[in-house]
Amino acid sequence: MKYKNMEDIRSRVPNGCSGWPFIGETLEFIASSYTSKPVSFMLKRKSLYGKVFRTHLLGKPVIVSTDPEINKVVLQNHGNIFIPSYPKSITELFGESSILRMNGALHKRVHASIGRFLKSPELKVQITRDIENSVKMSLEKWKHSSLVYIQDQTNQLTFEILVKVLMSLGPGEEMELFKKEYKEFIKGLICLPIKLPGTQLYKSLKAKERLQRMIRKIIIERLSNKTHDTDNLSATIYGSDAIDVLLRDINDRSEADKCQPLDFIAGNIIEMMVPGEDSVPMVMTLAVKYLSDNPVALKQLVDENMELKGQKANSGNSYAWTDYMSLTFTQNVISETLRMANIINAIWRQATEDVEIKGYLIPKGWCVLASLTSIHMDEQNYENPYDFDPWRWEKKGIVASSNTFSPFGGGQRLCPGLEFSRLEISIFLHHLVITYRWVAEKDEIVYFPTVKMKQKLPISVTNHGYDDES
Ligand code: HEM
Repeated sequence: MKYKNMEDIRSRVPNGCSGWPFIGETLEFIASSYTSKPVSFMLKRKSLYGKVFRTHLLGKPVIVSTDPEINKVVLQNHGNIFIPSYPKSITELFGESSILRMNGALHKRVHASIGRFLKSPELKVQITRDIENSVKMSLEKWKHSSLVYIQDQTNQLTFEILVKVLMSLGPGEEMELFKKEYKEFIKGLICLPIKLPGTQLYKSLKAKERLQRMIRKIIIERLSNKTHDTDNLSATIYGSDAIDVLLRDINDRSEADKCQPLDFIAGNIIEMMVPGEDSVPMVMTLAVKYLSDNPVALKQLVDENMELKGQKANSGNSYAWTDYMSLTFTQNVISETLRMANIINAIWRQATEDVEIKGYLIPKGWCVLASLTSIHMDEQNYENPYDFDPWRWEKKGIVASSNTFSPFGGGQRLCPGLEFSRLEISIFLHHLVITYRWVAEKDEIVYFPTVKMKQKLPISVTNHGYDDES
């Protein structure tokens, strides 16, 4: 792209303010995240400069887009102009061959393999049973507690399910150790990028090494059990978790393209947990919060799920994954929760060359922050956006991702765990509402550094079972 001179370049870069030297507008950006309306940073600048503006955050010049069409172009990324951009602590922790960092043809292939696996009906059949068992076991324990912390309970539940799907590790000592190391690893994702003994980044890198050793051991055991020949991957009969999918992917590569399989797989298994580990339990927790505050929505959800329960009892059939996914109102509750919760509030990319979208220039090396929250909370897209209104989805239907609804991102990196997450949340909500009534204690949502409930959403279970009334 050719520009006449610097003046021409400046005139095409969106309006905005670079703030203070070096820190730019970072402090205001973080301060707004501590409020109950984190989108206020965006709203203020949108009213001054329009839907697309420039700022300076975390040491980098950034173009913020609150425009659905621009976000779509950035996420679709035709021509591979945009690459993921993360703070330095995250790039230190993710290897270069992490699915979250890799680009181009290799990314396309790994993304497709993982997506095929997570979306496959075979996995859904198997995982539906596993999720049901874990949810029922977790709910059973609530009978004996006067106060249940939903955020903790859902965290425990979903961690076990995720680890099962990724590496077939079941509950027990090894799983507890894995969890302890993983918690240490993720503490370093947002920290000062200083890698000296004693710093958080250093501790997290060490935790990652220990996690990788654990996963390598699982892979080696698996390979030797199946083939007694770790060099000959092609002879392996592959099972059904993400380790197997990545083993197959490496095996299918050309010799020149082959990497260190154990390091590649172990690293990616850990990194694949990052987008999924915290988001599913938070959606479950916030759904419980929004439903507790909206008795009419809760009643309709209960009715729909009790009807399914009745059908299953009459027919004597067990639940299929499609039963959960065809609960229309339940799916609408999940969509509305995803819209309002904005667990991943924005997607960061960096332009590898000058690019112009809708007349705005994004110069080479600049970051683009595609704000998802701004679009989900914009009244041009959603009437009364701050109201929890699952009925608004009756007109829209279930969409994986659209210009104005992208909690799972979009384009090349659209979350491969999208359907799996919806299934998991549906199963949880179903068994929750057919088993318990509850009263939620007062609690608040906090948005920084990630979305959480201040008190972990305590609820008191008031009686066991809508069953008794049906
Ligand atoms: C409600 C739950 C979830 C939400 C809101 C969510 C959201 C997202 C978003 C917004 C992205 C795009 C990131 C980007 O473009 O840079 C993403 C990517 C990803 N998600 Fe999810 N996710 C969820 C659950 C999961 C689960 C359960 C898994 C794993 C089983 C998972 C695995 C991934 C992976 C591997 C990527 C990277 C894809 C790539 O870069 O090619 N996610 N997720």
